Formats: sequence, structure tokens, C-alpha cells
Amino acid sequence: MNKSTKDYDDLLSEFLEFKEEKLELDLTRGKPSPEQLDLSNCLDGILDGNFQLRNGADARNYGGILGIPEARELGAEILGSRPKNTMVGGNSSLNLMYHFVASKVKTWGEGSKFICLTPGYDRHFTICEYFGISMLSIPLTNSGPDMEKIEKEVRADQSIKGIWCVPKYSNPTGHTYSDEVVKRIAALPKIAADDFFVFWDNAYVVHDLQSNEDKLYNFSRATENQGTSDSGLVFASTSKITFAGAGISFLSTGEKTLSDFEKYLSMQMIGFDKVNQLRHVKLLKNLEETKKLMAKHQKVLKPKFDLVLATLENKLGNSKVAQWTLPKGGYFISLDTLPGLAKRTVQLALELGVRLTPAGATFPYGKDPNDSNIRIAPSYPQLEELRKAVNVLGTCILLAKAESDNREG
Ligand SMILES: Cc1ncc(COP(=O)(O)O)c(C=O)c1O
Repeated sequence: MNKSTKDYDDLLSEFLEFKEEKLELDLTRGKPSPEQLDLSNCLDGILDGNFQLRNGADARNYGGILGIPEARELGAEILGSRPKNTMVGGNSSLNLMYHFVASKVKTWGEGSKFICLTPGYDRHFTICEYFGISMLSIPLTNSGPDMEKIEKEVRADQSIKGIWCVPKYSNPTGHTYSDEVVKRIAALPKIAADDFFVFWDNAYVVHDLQSNEDKLYNFSRATENQGTSDSGLVFASTSKITFAGAGISFLSTGEKTLSDFEKYLSMQMIGFDKVNQLRHVKLLKNLEETKKLMAKHQKVLKPKFDLVLATLENKLGNSKVAQWTLPKGGYFISLDTLPGLAKRTVQLALELGVRLTPAGATFPYGKDPNDSNIRIAPSYPQLEELRKAVNVLGTCILLAKAESDNREG
């Protein structure tokens, strides 16, 4: 009998068999695995006692809030921007995003709103929630968001102050925006409120899983062409290039916006960790060398993504209870169950010791209107753990469907 046509009793006994295994597996956050972190171990000791920058300054001392010049060059090359428009921060680009919002929230005033593309990155939504910014959900399609809808909204509503975008290998769907979408987003500030910003979170800029990678149109160039550079904020970090907990982050924007942000940051710090910036320049050198390191990550990650996709196909391929994305890069696979099954699936999996990102987390306020999206993060577990975890997930989806059929029938 095909697994998809198994009845409730069969699925329940499969579930109970898994339960006896007392599993402890985690498919939640997109963390690099230890093998990936090991790829950058030479960061340790790479300076060999030499802390001098190209311009003679001492990386160990105070100063230079926008970052060391050689790291600004590296960031600009990775982001497709210019060094004078690029700053280098600490180990988290999310931290820069948070602080940028914090720097503007007073002037935006009460009742400000952001456009949130869904499904999306939960931590973007958390920033809005924390600052009391309302979130307007707009669905993502395979080539990016519905631009007509967004243009209509920002034109009509001056309280919309921002939009969150993960343009390449989007978290969680893995989709990359088309050239046309990128150009239209770069033009948005011309029709939106004067203090509107595009948060272009290019977290997966060099994170390809295949040699025929997705090509993303250069957003910094697009904003330059539109005269909107000061309203575009391009972020990235080395969190998934070197050490997730000890990397460096980048922000590129127009010169005026960068200088305003520098003033804001200088109230809370004198400078980020320049020694770490120098270490990263020594290791990564430039975009070409960075891509060579990313090819090594690809070798570790690709088999994991392939295994998840093959296991899903094997387990659910004929069942029509779920569909999932086939990303060419990034850190996630996005799975949609039939409506109304995601929460129950995540709960069942937890009972078996398999932790999944909470259902709904990929939507503002944690509310998935269809209760169907589940984000799968294949990077951290070892292959055998991953196979087991995805098998459990498949059983839980089928069981959730069988339970719902029982209730209806
Ligand atoms: C879209 C996106 N942006 C930002 C981050 C976090 O980046 P960082 O480690 O630079 O703060 C993540 C991590 O998963 C992410 O998926």
C-alpha cells in the first residue's frame, strides 16, 4: 500500500514507533554546522601579532565607527556597492537593522507601518512588533512580491515607512527577485513617504547551492539610477560565510543616510571590533576568494538539501498533502501543508522529539492565515539525523491530515 493512502491506524503506529526512539532532533534555526565553521578556523591566529592597518592605524585601538577601509572595500564588493557608501559593523547584520529602525522610529511617529513579504524572516517581524510598527502582509511569488499591490499601498499611505526584503534565496522560500522587481523596488521611495526606507537584507548574497546560481540585479546600482540611494539599505554579514557568532556585518546606503546613522551609532559606541574586521579581510580578501570559500560550504550543504528534498518526495510525493520549494541557495526549504495542518504537525513532531520552527513564525504576529507554512532548516544536523527528522515530519503531516479527515468524516 502506498504510504499516502495509509489510514489513521497505520500512521498512529508509525508515530508510536518513532516515539519509542526518544529522538532529540532540531530543524529550527539556520545555523552552520560544525564542519562549516571549521572551514574558517584559520581566522584564529591569522593576524600573527600584526594589527596594523594599510593606513598605518592600529586595529586594536578606538576609532573608525564606519569600519576599517580594507573591510569597507570587501563589503562593498560583496554587496555590489562602493566603499564610501559601505560601513562594517559587528557580528550581526540584524543588529544593524534593529538600530537603523531605532534611529528613525521617533521621527516616523505613531501609527507607522512596514510592508512585510510573506512568508518571511521572523526576526524582521519581531523588530516591528517591538517598536510598535504595524505590519502589512503581502505575499511573495516565485519572482518576488506583487509590485502593483505594493506601489498602490505606498502611494496611498504615507504612514508606510519601510519594507523588508530578502531578495536572494529568500528566507524561507529560497526565491530570488526578478530584475524587474528589483528595479521597481528601487523606485518605490519616489512614490512613498519621504522617510520611507527599503531594508534590502541580502543575507544570502553568496550562498549558492548550485553552479547555475540565481543572479540578482544589483540593488545599489538600481537605487543610484533612480536617485534613491539614501532610501535603500543593503545589509549582509559573514555569519554564514565564516563564524556565525563571530563574523562581521555590512551596510551600504547613500552618503547622507550613512552619515546620519554614523551620528546615531556614535552615541552608543566608539567603534566596532576592528581586529575582527582585519582578520576577515586577511581571510576573505575579496569577492573571488569569498566565493571559493562558499564553494566549500556548498559541498557540505548541498547533500543535506538533496537529502531533505528526496526524503520529502519519497514520503509525501504522492500524497498531495504538502508542497515545498526547491531552492538553489540560502538556508531553508519552505513547505506548505494543506490549510490548517501546520500547527498540529509541529506539535506532533515535538512530541516525537523533533523541533521545528513554530508554525506561523514566518508571518507577522506569528499568524499564518492558512496555518500551512513550515520552515525547514537543513544545515545543522548530520545526514542521518536529517533523514530521520524529515521522515518524522512526513509522518506527522500525514497523521495531522488523517486526524482532520477523521474529524470531518
Ligand atoms: C534573512 C536573514 N537576515 C539576517 C539574518 C541574521 O543575520 P546576522 O547573523 O548577520 O545577524 C538571518 C539569519 O538567519 C536571515 O535569515
